[in-house]
Amino acid sequence: MRKQMVAGNWKMNLGLAEAKTLATEVCQALREAGLPGGENGPQVVFFPPHPFLTTVVEAIGKTPGVSAGAQNCHQEKKGAFTGEVSAGMVRTCGGTHVLVGHSERRAYFGEDENLLAAKIRQVLDEGLTPVYCCGEVLQERDGGRHFEVIASQLGNGLFWLDRDELARTVIAYEPVWAIGTGRTASPEQAQEVHAFIRQRIEASYGEDTARNMTILYGGSCNAGNARELFARPDVDGGLIGGASLKAGDFVQIIRSF
Ligand code: PGA
Repeated sequence: MRKQMVAGNWKMNLGLAEAKTLATEVCQALREAGLPGGENGPQVVFFPPHPFLTTVVEAIGKTPGVSAGAQNCHQEKKGAFTGEVSAGMVRTCGGTHVLVGHSERRAYFGEDENLLAAKIRQVLDEGLTPVYCCGEVLQERDGGRHFEVIASQLGNGLFWLDRDELARTVIAYEPVWAIGTGRTASPEQAQEVHAFIRQRIEASYGEDTARNMTILYGGSCNAGNARELFARPDVDGGLIGGASLKAGDFVQIIRSF
């Protein structure tokens, strides 16, 4: 059975005290509600800015089903790369996941799929879970090229992995035109692309692998639309930006399955 997941991408927001409070409040609310914890509950992952990771990991403590990760890491193991953070550092700070290929990294930092593939190698080598983001820009959607774009992002960024490695990876479909814009993909649009992603996995890795992969939707997902999105058969949860910064909203999203 594939795992459901709700992840909060905090981006470059909050201060240390706010980050600690947010993680603490979410965990407390989940414990009180008896969520997520159990075998069938969704996994919850916070993606704070790097300097807050240790504090957030401490705030989570032993809350079942909740962990934290990094929004990015470097493609090399170690060395003279001033200002960078390695996957190994994320692991030793208690992180479990790393976002790879978020559209903001692709657009503002020029990250291409060769680079992203190298990052995924590092993340997997450290025993962490990569959350690989893909998605088309508005022009590509309007030109009817979104399937082609996504197929190429998957092919170049991910499909060089062997089957076991791919199975340890989470995919997030984030249409760029829906990120931070308040314009969400409709549940039908999300389902259509998620089903397409699963078909591509099946074509390269077989039905079993495809069936068990967790595929998240991201892009203006919030407490008001999460339930409808998560109800679609191929949508296994969400990667949440803006709405993950408020404990109440984020908890409501987690309860939307
Ligand atoms: P948003 O961001 O929910 O604020 O649209 C999602 C993301 O960028 O991961």
